[in-house]
Formats: sequence, structure tokens, C-alpha cells
Amino acid sequence: MAVQALASTSFSTRLASANNGVSSSMKLEFAPLRGVAFRKSNVVRTVAASVASDRVPDMGKRQLMNLLLLGAISLPSAGLIGPYLYFLVPPGSGGEGAGVTAKDALGDDITVKGWLKTHPAGDRTLAQGLKGDPTYLVVESDGSLATYGINAVCTHLGCVVPFNTAENKFICPCHGSQYTNQGRVVRGPAPLSLALAHVDVADDKVVFSPWSETDFRTGEDPWWS
Ligand code: FES
Repeated sequence: MAVQALASTSFSTRLASANNGVSSSMKLEFAPLRGVAFRKSNVVRTVAASVASDRVPDMGKRQLMNLLLLGAISLPSAGLIGPYLYFLVPPGSGGEGAGVTAKDALGDDITVKGWLKTHPAGDRTLAQGLKGDPTYLVVESDGSLATYGINAVCTHLGCVVPFNTAENKFICPCHGSQYTNQGRVVRGPAPLSLALAHVDVADDKVVFSPWSETDFRTGEDPWWS
């Protein structure tokens, strides 16, 4: 470093001699000092960078730490979110084709034997159907259980439509819409017939399942499917 300062001094001296001016003499005094200061700051920066690079972990370690952190956060989060998601899934929603056991007014499973003992031919009585909708079980004129159920929710504004035995029709008490005893609309303002559901028997229990075939009352595709 002393040699470099000397060389720098010599260079500035020569420059001062060549120029013979006041400003050149000033360069003789200050040029070596600037050179030393510059080199000192370079050394400080190099040492600082070396220390900093020693303290920063390499890329592999950082990725490992990131993975550990992600695992530590996601496992408890999944444990908390899982029960909430399960709570939001409605009961009995097992997808297309999934059936539910019909339940009576007390919430008990309906059996065919028990139902037909207390419900005569021509009877239409409500049971709890798909998605909890009130759905009529129909007893045919020969005393057997019909293979379809009739959703009691009016297609106008959603009132539950009672069956009028004297009229042999479903008549909505809200705005007067009427449906045949099979649920086909015959008078508005309801725009559509009552929805259908399949009725099957499994271990003597009555089971509702979605109706996605042609509506046998109208010959059209089901509007509710
Ligand atoms: S809700 Fe049934 S007629 Fe309006």
C-alpha cells in the first residue's frame, strides 16, 4: 500500500511540474489520500460481504426450512377446516341416484306394511322426502303403494299444497293453483306440475330417489332435474 501511495505521489508530482499551476499543486496533496480512502472502503465492503455470505444459509437449507414451515402450518389448518366443510354438506345429498328412506311425521322410517295398514286406497299423505322436501306417498286404487311420490312444494311461490280428498285434487291455499291427483297442473298461477320422485322398497322400507326420466303425466323432460 505504501508503494502504491508513493507511486501515486510521484505521478501527481510529475503532473504538477508539467502544469506549473495552483490547482495542479493541490492535486499533489490530495490525490494519494483519495486513493487510500478508496482502497480502504473496498476492503471494508469485501469483508462485510464475506461475513454476510457466511450467515445466509444455502438454497437447499432454505427450501427445507420452507417445506417444514408449510407442513407445520397446513396440518393444523386442515384439522380446523375439515369439520367446518363437513358441517356444510347437507345430510342425504349423495349425488344423482342416491336414495333416502322416507320418514313419517314423527321422523321414523316408513315401512310398506305399516303404511298400507293405516292408509287406504286413494290416500295421499305427506312423508319426508329428498332433501327434506314434503312428498306425498300415493296409495293406488288397488291398495298398493305407487312407484312415484309427489313433491308438495307449489311451483308458483313454494307453499305446501294439501290434497283435497273431496275434490280429488291438490289445491294450493296461497293463490288457488290446482293439480290433478297425480300432481299435473290444471290451473294457475302455478306454471308447472308438481315434481316427482321415485318410490322403491328396500327391506320393507320406503325409499325415495330422484326422478330424472320423462314426466309420465306430460310426456316432457322433468323441469326439476
Ligand atoms: S304458492 Fe301456490 S298458488 Fe301461489
